[in-house]
Amino acid sequence: MRDDIDPLYEYAQALSGPIPAYLLEVERQTFLKTMAPQMLSGALQGRILSLLSKLRSPKTILEVGTFTGYAALCMAEGLGPEGKLHTIEGNQETAFLARQNFKNSPFAHQIELHVGQALELLPTLPPTFDLVFLDGDKRGYPEYFHQLINRLSAGGLLLADNILWDGKVSASGKPNPDVQALRAYNQLLAQDPRVEVVVLPLRDGLSVARKL
Ligand SMILES: C[S@@+](CC[C@H](N)C(=O)[O-])C[C@H]1O[C@@H](n2cnc3c(N)ncnc32)[C@H](O)[C@@H]1O
Repeated sequence: MRDDIDPLYEYAQALSGPIPAYLLEVERQTFLKTMAPQMLSGALQGRILSLLSKLRSPKTILEVGTFTGYAALCMAEGLGPEGKLHTIEGNQETAFLARQNFKNSPFAHQIELHVGQALELLPTLPPTFDLVFLDGDKRGYPEYFHQLINRLSAGGLLLADNILWDGKVSASGKPNPDVQALRAYNQLLAQDPRVEVVVLPLRDGLSVARKL
């Protein structure tokens, strides 16, 4: 389902919520201040992330690829009072915006923003997570899977965005490195007996996997 052209998507989005006021402001600021605001998860996917997080009630969340913090704030809605969300962003400028957005939310004291390259930072973060959201460089997804699958708790959720890559994952012709990595990631999950997975054709594709 393409969010930019599909009236059904618009309909579904309009009836999903409510969306907290501080998140609407994050979206507004992202469109005002960044060059690629479409990277933000958006209202419908944001509500799904929030709901999945609330269903799992995670103590520890990891996000790879913070951007301006929209998805992190959605997932933080499912944290209990002692819960923590760790999010990694490689770009200093967007990390600055994310930090401001976290400060203006009810979750300022529960979100830790780590600035740097995800693969370098992962070993410095807590040993286990109950919810992981991959949304950084697509070429890294297979390696993130290998690094994180043993750090996911039983019943934990592994989510990954852009998994259908504008339909290119199923197109014929020579795949570029992003497509190759996303196909490899999807195959890893489909064949791994440690997880059950569903690939949702929502927006650019959202993979939802549960560790058994
Ligand atoms: C699609 S955006 C994330 C959007 C965000 N998760 C949301 O839904 O609001 C991807 C972000 O990942 C960051 N990124 C890409 N590769 C990275 C890496 N290897 N380490 C850390 N951050 C990375 C980019 O700078 C960018 O801000």
